[in-house]
Amino acid sequence: MSKLDAVFDLEEASKFVGLNPVDFQKKVTELKIPGWKTGEFKKSILAKYFEANISEGYDSSVIAVSNQKGGEGKTTISLYLAEALAENHKVLLIDWDPQANATQLFLNDDVPSIMDYLGYRGKKPKDIMPIIKNVSENFDLLPSTLELANLTTPYERDDFELLKEAILPIRSSYEYIIIDCPPSLGLILENALICADYILVPIQTRAFSLQGIRDLHETIQKIQRKANQRLKLLGAVLNQFEGQKALAGLAEGVKKYFPVFETVIQRRESIPQAQARMSFLAKIDLTTMKNFRELATEVKEKINVEKN
Ligand SMILES: Nc1ncnc2c1ncn2[C@@H]1O[C@H](COP(=O)(O)OP(=O)(O)OP(=O)(O)O)[C@@H](O)[C@H]1O
Ligand SMILES: [Mg+2]
Repeated sequence: MSKLDAVFDLEEASKFVGLNPVDFQKKVTELKIPGWKTGEFKKSILAKYFEANISEGYDSSVIAVSNQKGGEGKTTISLYLAEALAENHKVLLIDWDPQANATQLFLNDDVPSIMDYLGYRGKKPKDIMPIIKNVSENFDLLPSTLELANLTTPYERDDFELLKEAILPIRSSYEYIIIDCPPSLGLILENALICADYILVPIQTRAFSLQGIRDLHETIQKIQRKANQRLKLLGAVLNQFEGQKALAGLAEGVKKYFPVFETVIQRRESIPQAQARMSFLAKIDLTTMKNFRELATEVKEKINVEKN
C-alpha cells in the first residue's frame, strides 16, 4: 500500500488536516467528502479537499532536551515546557527514551512500538501519525516503549536520520516539537540531535559536574560539525535550584561552555508529586507552573532571535 492510500479514522483524519474532530465532521458532512458516512477517510482524498489547510502548516521548531547524565531533569523540563507552550501553541512531545518515563505519565495501556515505524533493520518505514496521542488541548505525545533500546547499531547511513524522516510528514502540524532524550550517548541520542533545530540542556544544580558539561559540549560540537550544522545550542537550564547563594559561581562555570538561561527552575516537591499523580502541573501547583511559563517565554525569545 502506498503512503498516499493510507486510511484514517475520524480522529486521525481531523489531525491530518489540522482541524478539531467536531469541525472536521461538520465540514466533511457539509461537503459530502468521501468517508463522511463510514468514518474512514483516504489520505489522498483528504489531501485533495483540504490542500489549503495542509500546506499552510507551521514553521516548526524542534527542541531536543538533552544531557547524557541521568536525572538532570530532562523529562521534567520536557513535560512542563511542553505543557506551558501548549497553553498558546500546538505542541508535540516526543518521548525518545526507552525508559518511557513521559509516556507512562499519560498512557497506562500498551502502546505500539515506535521501532515498528522507523524503518530500522530492513523494516518498512510507516506513517507515525496513527500512534501519536492527543493528551490535552494543543498537546500531542509520540509515545516510547522499551524496544527503542534496540536502536543501537547503524547498519545503513539512513539509520542516523530515522527520527528526522519519521517526523517530516507531521512536522508542520506543530509549532514546537520537544524531544525528551535518553541519558546516554549513542544512536538514539544521535537521531534526536540530527532531527533537532535546537538543543536545551538541563543541569541539576545540586550534584553539579563540570566534567559532565565538558563531555556534553564535545558531543554537541561533534554533531554540529559532522551531521547537523543547523543545530543551535539554546542553552543550559539550571534545575532543582535551591537558594540564591551559589548561583553566580555555578552559572559562571557552566557559561564557559554553554549560554545559560536566565530562568532557573526551582526545586519543588510538587514536581515529583505531579508526576506520581500523573497530573498536569497546572492542576497541582500554579507557582511552579509559572516558573515553566517563564522558561517557555525565554525559549520562544531565544528561538525568535535565531530565526530573525
Ligand atoms: N525542579 C525539580 N524539583 C523537584 N524535583 C525534581 C525537579 N526536577 C526533577 N525532579 C525530580 O528528579 C527526578 C529526575 O528528574 P527527571 O526524570 O526529569 O530527570 P531525567 O534527566 O529525565 O532523568 P533520566 O536521565 O533518567 O531520563 C524525578 O524524580 C523528578 O521528579
Ligand atoms: Mg528522563
